[in-house]
Amino acid sequence: MKPIRSRLPNHFIRRATENLSLDGYWVRSDPVPVFHCIHPPEFRDQYILRMAVRTPESGGFRIPHELNWLRPAIYACDGIQKQNGLPNQYVYVTVRSGEVLSQTDDDWHVDGFSMRVPHLPEQNYICASSPATEWQAKSFDVPDDFDPMRHNLHWLLQEQAGDDATRQCDPFVAYAIDPYCVHRRPQFNGRRLFWRVSFVAIAIEDDTCTPNPLLPMPRYGRRDIRESLVGYPLTQYPTAVDNRSPQTEVRSSVSP
Ligand SMILES: [Fe+2]
Repeated sequence: MKPIRSRLPNHFIRRATENLSLDGYWVRSDPVPVFHCIHPPEFRDQYILRMAVRTPESGGFRIPHELNWLRPAIYACDGIQKQNGLPNQYVYVTVRSGEVLSQTDDDWHVDGFSMRVPHLPEQNYICASSPATEWQAKSFDVPDDFDPMRHNLHWLLQEQAGDDATRQCDPFVAYAIDPYCVHRRPQFNGRRLFWRVSFVAIAIEDDTCTPNPLLPMPRYGRRDIRESLVGYPLTQYPTAVDNRSPQTEVRSSVSP
């Protein structure tokens, strides 16, 4: 672990101390490189989704043996959180090591956007082998009548994302990002390593999280709100599928 910086930028800390808000998308949010990671050139298969490794009640970290390889990085991220006075006590770990399997990560999105209850934004520390994460170097326009409990934010972000604003992280460098950083995994088939350590203000009440045998969490029985979101009305979204082929349209328009 070779440090790059431990002090996060002032604007990053200011956003971290104000409740999550759609206003935040009007200001560009860049990933902050924090340290170089050393990983073996060959990595084994491991797929973990948001496993809780610390809660306010757990008395410190509860890291299963299979995640020991990531322990130094988890502690380094926690050190940065402490040095910057960031209070989020829930810590979750995601690992995708091996063949790229997940389908939705190559769409532009943000991590940790939830308006279910008011709370401070989470901080995510991410690191990937090549190809590393891509991000958008621009601000986003979220209309005042956009309703995050009804409209799909990710579709809105995808529509405004552009190739000219696309930048790429360096492989094997850990970056701090917040829920205003629009990013994606580049289109890729093959083996890749990705990890994320998330510092969250509230429990992620999602039954799809990978259980940690050392830190059992309750079953929440909640339905993911993202399944019921619709597009913001002024725009055309991917669900509005037009099955007619362009050829059919041309023929019908010229026939008598
Ligand atoms: Fe993400």
